Amino acid sequence: MEQQAPKKRIFSGIQPTGNLTLGNYIGALRNFGLLQNEYDCLYSIVDMHAITVRQDPAELRKACLRTMSIFLACGLDPEKNIIYFQSQVPQHAELAWILNCFTYMGELNRMTQFKDKSAKHADNINAGLFTYPVLMAADILLYLTDLVPIGADQKQHLELARDIALRFNAVYGDVFTVPEGYFPKVGARIMSLQDPTRKMSKSDPDECYIAIIDPPDVIRRKLRRAVTDCEATVRFEPETRPGVANLMSILSALSGKSMDQIEADFEGKGYGQFKDAVADCVIAALEPIQKEYDRINKDKAYLESVMVSGRERAQSIAYRTMLKVRKKVGLAALKL
Ligand code: TYM
Repeated sequence: MEQQAPKKRIFSGIQPTGNLTLGNYIGALRNFGLLQNEYDCLYSIVDMHAITVRQDPAELRKACLRTMSIFLACGLDPEKNIIYFQSQVPQHAELAWILNCFTYMGELNRMTQFKDKSAKHADNINAGLFTYPVLMAADILLYLTDLVPIGADQKQHLELARDIALRFNAVYGDVFTVPEGYFPKVGARIMSLQDPTRKMSKSDPDECYIAIIDPPDVIRRKLRRAVTDCEATVRFEPETRPGVANLMSILSALSGKSMDQIEADFEGKGYGQFKDAVADCVIAALEPIQKEYDRINKDKAYLESVMVSGRERAQSIAYRTMLKVRKKVGLAALKL
């Protein structure tokens, strides 16, 4: 009998802070479910990344479970995918330390997210914030990942992970797989509704983003108030008219329509009608997820079972990688 080639591996992570947004959904989460049959997938709730900014401990614990509920509500099958909390697999931290020794200060200094975050949290520019991309590289490389579904804002971090993998492999032989990014064709960067020159972010004020769990009336209100311009024509001109272009990207990503089709559909129609159509489309996409979310998030026993199984399966892969890495760099063997 012909042997099947082993499936390629996918890894991605999402921080469990604040409310996950429509940007997280279109940029990353939505792609997770599409890939679950062809790939071996791990999806992590990256709680250790979250503590690079101060968190309320009880709230963080709840947010982790909420994030897991959203993963499941988006259709991720916990049998097919390994869904787990990053901090429950200690090898992430262990590998991050080793990779810190293969990363240059100059590389980390160039990371735009570090610059943004240190401006936002000027009172707490800690070393974790600085080495955050190394932990992210460890997340990815630990599982010998082939493909990383992410939004455009994580591209620079992924490139660093690739550079670290290549550097490590050049010294020790082929230890790590060099990962590729997987970006959505439309919607890799969903912008803020109030300032469409900046990305939609869950840490911005409420009116700037749509949360995956926002009720339909809230979604409609936020979209009606979204910043556009005074041209009142629906045309895709992201450089000069970023507000309309952003709403078009949302509509295109969720409906599958091209920009040309959308322009034709709204020829001669005003922004009111256009924004309502975007709202209808977003509400229709999120409603089934919200229903599932409400059900799953109440079922703590189920969430616990997903957490335990995900942790055990992730640990077993991570343990094998670390055996090899420790041996390569000359650290004492770790016997369980
Ligand atoms: P995070 O938690 O900020 O975002 C999770 C995912 O959502 C994408 N995303 C967006 N996509 C389009 N438009 C937006 N406005 C938007 N906002 C967020 C992000 O690109 C991301 O894919 N460092 C990562 C988490 C992480 C990770 C990893 C990702 C840690 N380790 C390993 C992949 C692999 C982050 O903070 O994402």
